[in-house]
Amino acid sequence: MKRIITYGTFDLLHYGHINLLQRAKALGDYLIVCLSSDEFNSLKGKKSYFNYEQRKKLLEAIRYVDLVIPETCWEQKKSDMHEYHIDIFVMGDDWKGRFDDLRDEGVEVIYLSRTPEISTTQIKETLHNTKK
Ligand code: CTP
Repeated sequence: MKRIITYGTFDLLHYGHINLLQRAKALGDYLIVCLSSDEFNSLKGKKSYFNYEQRKKLLEAIRYVDLVIPETCWEQKKSDMHEYHIDIFVMGDDWKGRFDDLRDEGVEVIYLSRTPEISTTQIKETLHNTKK
């Protein structure tokens, strides 16, 4: 049983997120999404449109996702690898190289290519500039 974990905010869930989750799940058997809490987002200077519980509910409805847990600080990744018996850590390649150190925890670190031309930021900007 291969266990995979990925991290993110996943606000205004879009097909780029789905592509990432689908490919992450295809690497093994059990996919955990560690979802940024609202408090962690404000620490990063980000404010999501949907709150944590709403984003969690959407992710739990995705067939590729087996478990959603909260991400509350940068440091937890290391302990998550052991607590959740992770085999593979996955992120989009906008994070390429940033989490290579997790290999020291005995996990495989994989960066998947981002789906082009879609992001939550872009959706927000487009809607903001669209006339009612
Ligand atoms: N992701 C992806 N392809 C996209 C957008 C996101 O593969 N087009 C991946 C990211 O690389 C990350 C995960 O989805 O591994 C969650 O990304 P997140 O930052 O929550 O989504 P974005 O749409 O990039 O949001 P933002 O614009 O706020 O950064």
